[in-house]
Amino acid sequence: MTKLIGVSGSLRRGSLNSALLRAAAERMPEGSELVIGTIRGIPLYNGDVEAAEGIPEPVTALKDVIAAADGLLLVTPEYNNSIPGVFKNAIDWLSRPPADIPRVFGGKPVALMGASPGGFGTILSQNAWLAVPRTLGAELWGEGRLLVSRAQQVFAEDGTLADEKVGERLQAFMEGFVRFARSLSQRG
Ligand SMILES: Cc1cc2nc3c(=O)[nH]c(=O)nc-3n(C[C@H](O)[C@H](O)[C@H](O)COP(=O)(O)O)c2cc1C
Repeated sequence: MTKLIGVSGSLRRGSLNSALLRAAAERMPEGSELVIGTIRGIPLYNGDVEAAEGIPEPVTALKDVIAAADGLLLVTPEYNNSIPGVFKNAIDWLSRPPADIPRVFGGKPVALMGASPGGFGTILSQNAWLAVPRTLGAELWGEGRLLVSRAQQVFAEDGTLADEKVGERLQAFMEGFVRFARSLSQRG
């Protein structure tokens, strides 16, 4: 069983990106599964807190799930043509302490997708993310790209995917990412 962990970079109840993540979990190829993680509960990074109290529990829990997974899917909104602060903050905490980065991220297959009500589907946010997996020693899957634009028309009121064309693209994307994750795990 290929087990992926997916994380949405939005805390919003009606988040389009969280809806996209849930839709991905429903379209996984046979023999694979996408577990939904969360950045909820992760505080703002503060080096003084880290020095005094160590790593917060929600961060430790998410680190362990990522470390155990065969791949990490980041579902990112776009804020001001870049990465939303809450999502970047979460990754920054997840990269602490630096000695633990190889366990959590080293050689880890990573994929990016995102949804936006605008016409460009988070392209600039996804571009801004590129430096992060490289810095953490992860293996970014660059073959597939999923930019969900005009996303308010793609998801129904209840957050389910209402556009089957997007559903097909999403399914193909997840198939490609699972293939990539499997090829890396076979490489050892
Ligand atoms: C501070 C802020 C900045 C934003 N900047 C962009 C942007 O640069 N590009 C874009 O496509 N959408 C932008 N948006 C709109 C978001 O794409 C939209 O709110 C989206 O629904 C957020 O993702 P979510 O639904 O998963 O919460 C911005 C929204 C906020 C709150």
